[in-house]
Amino acid sequence: MKHTVYWIEGDGIGPEIWNVTRPVLDAALKATTQGEHEINWVELLAGEKAVRLTGSPLPQETLDTLATASVAIKGPLGTPVGGGIRSLNVALRQTFDLYACIRPVSWFQGISTPVKHPERVNMVIFRENTEDVYAGIEYAAGTEQAEKLGAFLRDEFGANIREASAIGIKPMTEFASRRLVRRAIQYALDNGLPSVTIVHKGNIMKFTEGGFRAWGYDVAREEFGDVTIPEKEATPENSAGKVIIKDRIADAMFQEALIRPDQYSVLALPNLNGDYISDALAAQVGGLGMAPGMNMSDTLALFEATHGTAPTAAGKDIANPGSLLLSGALMLRHMGFPEAAEKVKNAILAAIAEKTVTPDLAAEMENARPVSCTEFGKILLSKVQ
Ligand code: NAI
Repeated sequence: MKHTVYWIEGDGIGPEIWNVTRPVLDAALKATTQGEHEINWVELLAGEKAVRLTGSPLPQETLDTLATASVAIKGPLGTPVGGGIRSLNVALRQTFDLYACIRPVSWFQGISTPVKHPERVNMVIFRENTEDVYAGIEYAAGTEQAEKLGAFLRDEFGANIREASAIGIKPMTEFASRRLVRRAIQYALDNGLPSVTIVHKGNIMKFTEGGFRAWGYDVAREEFGDVTIPEKEATPENSAGKVIIKDRIADAMFQEALIRPDQYSVLALPNLNGDYISDALAAQVGGLGMAPGMNMSDTLALFEATHGTAPTAAGKDIANPGSLLLSGALMLRHMGFPEAAEKVKNAILAAIAEKTVTPDLAAEMENARPVSCTEFGKILLSKVQ
């Protein structure tokens, strides 16, 4: 049986990490399904390659195909220089309403990290992707828009805004907050995870961040009332088998993530908090280089390497394909092939344990043997077959 996966090569190190990733994913799927399932890889053009071949960084054909696709995976895309699209990644997120950015974060034994107990981190971050101060509604100080808006807020609402302020707007809706928290709870249920923590700054921003918290609890109570329980009501007797819904103020969550990470499993956050904690947690387990990610709408799951195009490494066969491979493993799991996903992850773990890794990882390990991207791929391939 063939399963169509649309793939975007990406810029910079994109082609190199793809050369390694595709054969490993194919082999893992073949080995775990006795050859009964295969991926039908269909390339979509975006980025520099698309400019070269079509003149556009995001051709209409790519957009039309993604509009009907259910699974796609992309390498890193550079930000086009010289106008047009601000960022291809943002354009993709907005065009396809990819409202949930999902990042699992856990430690790989052998990777050096700045904390004593990286093994205690095992969290999946659900970050809202479409609202908050990241909605792009922002006016520079001194512009006509900022002056008018400032005057309006002062005169009409008595708001205390200094003259010559730069002004950004933070829209957050019940609709977007609920669908994000709904996804996080569903994920916890599907994967047998113990809790979902709503992370917010509702003590200060009562209606936006506080709204996110309240709407999150609402969706848990109204749609998952029989399988979830708020932390405050939970006792050992009434919470067995249920997902516990917690909430934490964002700054406290950063402390908790360092002090008691094992108390947290799935996190649901608005856009800005989610951005911050994603990188902080990634650093806690040894950096962004290996972090997988996906962005989801209700119909499309777009998996991606979370790092950029690494222009200085491009063309040298030294890039680490780990993030794209692990995103591919997430994709296999999403497609219903958890054994194949585990196989890919275990191959990477084994390569790290044997200390044959790409130079970026080797530089952080003692007595490691740095290998090229291509050789790393061959090692992984031998382990998944
Ligand atoms: P970057 O992630 O490309 O590089 C940061 C540092 O990490 C560099 O030292 C780089 O060599 C290293 N690095 C990153 N990935 C690596 C890998 N797989 N193996 C070995 N080393 C790796 O971030 P930077 O330099 O800020 O951005 C470069 C370009 O990538 C920009 O055009 C940016 O807009 C774009 N970008 C795209 C993203 C995406 O497509 N999701 C995410 C972040 C940046």
